[in-house]
Amino acid sequence: MTPYFEENGIQIFHGDCLDVLPCLADNFVDSVVTDPPYELSNDGKGKPQRARFFYCAKASQEDREEGLEPRRNFHPTVKPTDLMRYLVRLITPPCGICLDPFAGSGSTGKACALEGMKAILIEKEIEYCELAMRRARLRQQLLFT
Ligand SMILES: C[S@@+](CC[C@H](N)C(=O)[O-])C[C@H]1O[C@@H](n2cnc3c(N)ncnc32)[C@H](O)[C@@H]1O
Repeated sequence: MTPYFEENGIQIFHGDCLDVLPCLADNFVDSVVTDPPYELSNDGKGKPQRARFFYCAKASQEDREEGLEPRRNFHPTVKPTDLMRYLVRLITPPCGICLDPFAGSGSTGKACALEGMKAILIEKEIEYCELAMRRARLRQQLLFT
């Protein structure tokens, strides 16, 4: 399967993670850090699960847009970079590979790039893949400016 984007250890796959995941090698990643869609139901059956809600600070405007200028980050649930950096560091070994099968605008990918880790991101909406790609390039932009 060809990634939508691949650069400096960050791969982004455009598609449904249920289709993409079986195409990846077994035992390939060191960690999974993800932010799944809210109100997921049990395999499409029954009522959406609303039982677990956690408080999470919103990403600041500056954080959301960093690396995207002059475009905007229009994803509705962008996570703070500092939080994602903490989470990927917590469970991913240095230079390890982290998987996010519900990548959205790529906050996990941005965090991994800034931490010098590899990442595999999967996102079903192409316009979010584009945002994730631009955010994944941020570290390179910072290094060479
Ligand atoms: C809560 S958002 C993730 C937001 C992300 N953490 C960020 O900071 O931008 C969940 C994302 O999962 C994507 N998604 C939902 N079902 C999916 C699936 N089956 N495969 C891949 N992506 C999916 C949605 O399009 C959405 O962008």
